[in-house]
Amino acid sequence: MIVPKRIVRLAVFVTATVAIAAAQPPQARIKIDTDRAVGEVDPHLFGNFTEHLGRCIYGGIYDEGNPLSDSDGFRQDVMQAVRDLNVSLLRWPGGNFVSGYHWEDGIGPRDTRPVRRDDAWGALETNRFGTDEFLKYCERVSAEPYLCINAGLGTIDEARHWVEYCNEPAKTYYSELRRANGHEKPWNVKIWGLGNEIDGPWQLGHRTAEDYAKFGLEAAKAMRRADESIHLIASGSSNFRPGYDWIGWNRTVLDTLKNDIDYISLHTYIGNPENNLERFLAAGSDIDERIAIVEGLIKAAQNTQTVPRPIYIAFDEWNVWYRTLGRTEFEIGRKGLEERYNFEDALAIGMFFNAFLRHADSVKLANLAQLVNVIAPIVTKRDGMFLQTIYWPLLEYGKQRANISLDALVSSPKYAYNGRQIGYLDVSTTWDPKTGTVFVNVLNRSSDSDFSARIDNVEGQLSPDVRVWEMNHSDLKAVNTFDDDKKVRPAVRNVHVDLSHNGFTYNFPKHSLTILTLKRS
Ligand code: AHR
Repeated sequence: MIVPKRIVRLAVFVTATVAIAAAQPPQARIKIDTDRAVGEVDPHLFGNFTEHLGRCIYGGIYDEGNPLSDSDGFRQDVMQAVRDLNVSLLRWPGGNFVSGYHWEDGIGPRDTRPVRRDDAWGALETNRFGTDEFLKYCERVSAEPYLCINAGLGTIDEARHWVEYCNEPAKTYYSELRRANGHEKPWNVKIWGLGNEIDGPWQLGHRTAEDYAKFGLEAAKAMRRADESIHLIASGSSNFRPGYDWIGWNRTVLDTLKNDIDYISLHTYIGNPENNLERFLAAGSDIDERIAIVEGLIKAAQNTQTVPRPIYIAFDEWNVWYRTLGRTEFEIGRKGLEERYNFEDALAIGMFFNAFLRHADSVKLANLAQLVNVIAPIVTKRDGMFLQTIYWPLLEYGKQRANISLDALVSSPKYAYNGRQIGYLDVSTTWDPKTGTVFVNVLNRSSDSDFSARIDNVEGQLSPDVRVWEMNHSDLKAVNTFDDDKKVRPAVRNVHVDLSHNGFTYNFPKHSLTILTLKRS
């Protein structure tokens, strides 16, 4: 992986030859065994999401007439930050928005496109950014597109026509429309979502599991007739409100669609309203548990498939989101859902990735919600932008794409949360067999204790030269701003560790996220 020059300059590099040895016996243990492979870290795990919501599209990635935009209206400064982030996959157009969206409103000459009410978010939609603009944007940032159909108030017919518009090579009504709109060759969109959060009563066109499953089955059939090579994501659980049977939703959807889908989605947002770091960062155990439950449901459904096919989990919305929860444009104007992320939120990004990597055999796709302005790592104003705290772990974990995730043995001091025992050290490990590089990702969830860990390597000989990437800050609530976006940044240093018996001891500071890059022969 080549680190973009711009990023290298921004990070703090310190090279030192230090021996890191603990005076006391280590309190935790991490045992790396490259023979214990979990699965490949799918590059689609480093996806993102752009919804027609607040200033994500308009004023975010797309800003017609702004001197910072190119002739297509794409903000060039934002585009550079997106490229630097190496976003693998981009979901669009929603989110809740899609359940009232009719894609044909967003094609053809921009000035003749209809302005519609957006009744998901209480806004007006000009439709000046539509399918062709989005797909062109994906090409420009080298991200694979992921289109989500309107399974709320939309029809199966418009879903199959959308596939035809994007992917049909022959001359048909919809492919000719695409050509007339300037794109001769098919866009070849491979990843399609069968709707968004249809399990949530907040969704336009919310349905029961049975009704949704019936719709999904027929939509899958019709869309695959338009292009049999597409991959489909069923709308899985997003509704974890007490009393709601989210497991039952998934069971019904999987039972009905098990022969037709490639993924089932899972959405999770977390927050820290109680201002308690250790509780906040314990949410990783809920994520692990939800993944494990869906893995079990998938296995059960696969057991009675008539057409054997793998089904994976698409974590296609995830993030920290609680300060601006549920605030619509009607209530607060165009700046809806603009979370300002602090240092502790960056730690939570590591926690999500650690859970995804530990389940790399089943979680094969993920989209942070969202890319710009709206619960996002990039924030714009008319004449500039800045990178929020959460940008940095997204960038760093992204370097592990296509690695092999490892099932490391971890033992760590623990604390109690919701009747469970949670390790203070939250760990995932991956390796790249081609280069012999091993990544050890460690979140120390403690607000007041450092923990030393003995890191042992089983296969191959470790080198004592270790690259350390660390996010830490004395103020958990520290934020970056337009005026100072260097306040919360990772520090990078090279250290020389004291190797003994193919292992070493490392001290993980309180409330920190550390990625150790090791070399093994
Ligand atoms: O990402 C913001 C919103 O969160 C999405 O529109 C919706 O799918 C989810 O509830």
